[in-house]
Amino acid sequence: MRQTLLAIYPWIKALHVIAVIAWMAGMMYLPRLFVYHWRAEKGGEAERNFIQMERRLLKGIINPAMIAVWVLGLTMLYANPALLHDPWLHVKLAAVLSISAVHGLYAGAQRRFARGERPRTEKFWRIMNEVPFLLMMIAVIMVIVRPF
Ligand code: HEM
Repeated sequence: MRQTLLAIYPWIKALHVIAVIAWMAGMMYLPRLFVYHWRAEKGGEAERNFIQMERRLLKGIINPAMIAVWVLGLTMLYANPALLHDPWLHVKLAAVLSISAVHGLYAGAQRRFARGERPRTEKFWRIMNEVPFLLMMIAVIMVIVRPF
């Protein structure tokens, strides 16, 4: 099994990076929708549109992309377990777990916005818009530069 995975390792890594791009694109777009949704008139057409866009983005792109990133990432670790000893991977996984926690925060907020609520503040979602990007930078620098 490991031999087969190592033979297709470059394909797994390529699909991993493709899934990462989709996940990060969604994670940076959804809080932007929350910012505009927060201002929208309750019960209005704009609110209905935002609810639909947020649900489709989360269910259609962000959730499947996250699952693919984790499955492909863990598959590479199974195929290449020596990596588990590398400190850069530990820092990378800490950043990835943090991105996953932010994902959970967004999923909870999407449900509340869909119920017509206005969770947190507009300023909170503006700041949250930057957080996944900063965490992604840490993950990418760790896995490519491997500083330690
Ligand atoms: C979700 C859990 C994740 C796991 C378990 C994981 C694990 C891995 C592993 C084992 C590799 C191959 C390293 C190698 O053999 O060279 C890899 C490559 C990569 N990962 Fe992840 N990863 C995860 C999430 C992420 C995330 C969230 C990002 C970016 C935000 C990311 C970015 C990358 C990149 C850019 C590469 C390619 C590095 C290269 O070409 O050398 N990964 N990942």
